[in-house]
Amino acid sequence: MDTKVVKIHKENIDLELLAEAGDIIKKGGIVAFPTETVYGLGADGLNEEAVKKIYKAKGRPSDNPLILHISSIEELYPLVKEIPELAYEVIEKFWPGPLTIIFKKSSLVPHIITAGLDSVAIRMPRSAIAQELIRMSGTTIAAPSANLSGRPSPTRGDHVIEDMIGKIEMIIDGGRTGVGLESTVLDLSDDKATILRPGAITFEDLKEIIPHIKQDISITNQGATPKSPGQKYRHYAPKSEMILFTGGINNIVYKINEYLEKFDKDGLKVGVMATKETINRYNSGIIKEMGSRAEEESIAENLFDIIREFDNEDIDIILAEGIDLDNIGTAIMNRLIKASGGRIIET
Ligand code: TXA
Ligand code: MG
Repeated sequence: MDTKVVKIHKENIDLELLAEAGDIIKKGGIVAFPTETVYGLGADGLNEEAVKKIYKAKGRPSDNPLILHISSIEELYPLVKEIPELAYEVIEKFWPGPLTIIFKKSSLVPHIITAGLDSVAIRMPRSAIAQELIRMSGTTIAAPSANLSGRPSPTRGDHVIEDMIGKIEMIIDGGRTGVGLESTVLDLSDDKATILRPGAITFEDLKEIIPHIKQDISITNQGATPKSPGQKYRHYAPKSEMILFTGGINNIVYKINEYLEKFDKDGLKVGVMATKETINRYNSGIIKEMGSRAEEESIAENLFDIIREFDNEDIDIILAEGIDLDNIGTAIMNRLIKASGGRIIET
């Protein structure tokens, strides 16, 4: 298939191009588009045949449900069975934005979207390109992250081109996405209120509105069985093996240098995922800066990009620094723990 690649600027949106993209979706085709979190692979969420093509393009297991994207609150009502009181407060505060909410589904939502579950995941993205595309397509857009299944989510147009060229009708390159990690997934389909996937809207943010909120234990525990189907797969996986180092910053640097010395002797090509604060403290290896510990949002922004860079440089093994497990650090560590497949050295 010929994939049309178009560039659209966030600040100066070409509505004609977006109308063309909207038409492709209306006709059952697939368009990759930027959101404020990561790029999505979008199709008409109410058209089963179109949704099947998403699973095919990604190589995604069919037991992993998709998020439906809406551009206004009115679009929510027909998709869900009920909206708990609590959800209104959360929506008021965090939509549009990087937060997905799980509701009990209505009969309008096809089973292929929910992988047979009786709940549905809904998100109202903040990105102007995403919002306009949803409006133009005149439907709710089903969109998983626009990566091949198992690869890190795309945060730049180039990443999408790498994974999806020739497989879908159109790719909208809207530059870098911003947050860099997928949305927080919050389950409000029962009374419990559980975070199934951590993201930029943090546990601490949500606790202010939902004092009894819980985090699914698998979020930072590789061994535990996750409640969200998507969390059980080896995700965000670099091609090379990754080892994650946790603990105090000086201990981490010391330990990584120890490993570098050993792997150098073995003749391995080693990548180090460092931070601004530690970047000058490594004795060898190919060192990349994820961002600053003082501003963890910068780490979120660069994380998947750096993993993809290492992939393209044929690194044998990646040694990654861990960061503190709070605020957005929880989401970053969740992705690093998954990327490392649980190979964690506590220093
Ligand atoms: O930021 C994002 O959320 C991006 C952009 C494109 O919006 N999308 C995204 O989609 O990350 P995806 O498909 O890669 O991740 C969706 C996650 C999966 O972990 C999936 O298992 C979970 O949401 N999910 C979807 N529906 C669910 C449901 N009914 N119950 C529990 N988990 C669900
Ligand atoms: Mg994904």
